[in-house]
Amino acid sequence: MTNFTYSAAALDRLQKSDAEIFDALMHEETRQSEGIELIPSENYCFPEVYALLGSVFNNKYSEGYPGRRYYGGQENTDTIENLARDRAKAVFRAGHANVQPLSGCAMNEAVYFGLLQPGDVILGMDLSHGGHLSHGHPVTNMAKIFKYVRYKTEQPDGHIDLDKVRAVAMETKPKLIICGHSSYPREYDYAGFRKIADECGALLMADVSHLGGLIAGGALKNPMDFGFDVMTTTTHKSLRGPRGGMILCKKEHGAKIDKSVFPGMQGGPHMHQIAAIATTLKLVQSQDYKNYAKQVLANAQSLAKALLAGGAHLVTGGTENHLLVINTATGFGITGDVAEKALDAAGITLNKNVIPDDPNPPMKPSGIRFGTPAATARGMGEAEMQQLASIMLRVLRAPEDTALLAKLREETRAMCKRFPVPGIIPGTPQTQSAAA
Ligand SMILES: Cc1ncc(COP(=O)(O)O)c(C=O)c1O
Repeated sequence: MTNFTYSAAALDRLQKSDAEIFDALMHEETRQSEGIELIPSENYCFPEVYALLGSVFNNKYSEGYPGRRYYGGQENTDTIENLARDRAKAVFRAGHANVQPLSGCAMNEAVYFGLLQPGDVILGMDLSHGGHLSHGHPVTNMAKIFKYVRYKTEQPDGHIDLDKVRAVAMETKPKLIICGHSSYPREYDYAGFRKIADECGALLMADVSHLGGLIAGGALKNPMDFGFDVMTTTTHKSLRGPRGGMILCKKEHGAKIDKSVFPGMQGGPHMHQIAAIATTLKLVQSQDYKNYAKQVLANAQSLAKALLAGGAHLVTGGTENHLLVINTATGFGITGDVAEKALDAAGITLNKNVIPDDPNPPMKPSGIRFGTPAATARGMGEAEMQQLASIMLRVLRAPEDTALLAKLREETRAMCKRFPVPGIIPGTPQTQSAAA
């Protein structure tokens, strides 16, 4: 077997042929190793994923689907795509799976074009209440084609009032209703949404991009078990695969979805990405991964509890999944951008985030968003979450105290040393494929 993936030989060549990119790669390995990653959409992929992303599958054009391709030489690509599709259907209990979307936005757009007509109404969650750009925010191209309407969460507790969702749905008559978010720390009432969709004759979609891995690991509910028509998920967040998107749906929608992805939106699928998705979908069936998914939620609970005890104002008052949002403006008198920068200086990476109906603009919003998937992938547990909360609280109370931030940076670094990043051997910035 020949595998040059992230091998010493390939790295050696890179160092000689492009020192600038090589240096950036080494620095990024160090940054990822020595800081705590709390961006809830980020994670450390399985080391096997690096092997496949850097493999010869990168070289292959495979327009079409297994058994129906527009290029020859598909005996191995058909094998991997069939495995990826079969595993996706089994893991998510779906009638049909398409594993070709290049990213999360592309997968959602493929659903809209596959199942709807231009001008149709789509009901999704307001972005400042937790929804995602790709659910038709006015700045996106999709908003020029479809008519998006919104539901919001109720303040101050931040939960979704299904009676209000039903009222908007009955008034606007959407053809598609979306349950999905990138910053909503609560579970959806999937059965309640199914009822509303049935009442108003809409198709029902869940975008579980953030939650895909937690659903696969059995830690959260699976919308497909509640009769959803379509479910989309990115493959690189809690799922710990390569960057990409996946569409799961009822069998009856399969042909339309496939046609929308190819030839509707994309050309050649990224077969190295699909090979890595296939392997990811095998790895998430292990007991180890199920334990990981459970621990992600336990860590989020533990972090929430410690932050609340320290005076942080959590949007919705807590979390039921992997992510948390703090209103830094009310709790600490600082905007999210200030908090993000100060925490970065202390070695903790997260992102500034709007809060529901935020009075501040998106670049200087009132909150921060963070989550536990990446820290948990390093093996951190509830004891580390207590320490992390303590560091975060000290930063948020004194974001301009540079001496304190430097001291806390050392505390973070020491903590990280005890929990190596999967796929990076500490002190040897190379050979990721050799790591456990
Ligand atoms: C809910 C949701 N949908 C879609 C996407 C888009 O994914 P991508 O960045 O891969 O296009 C994201 C990414 O953050 C997301 O959180």
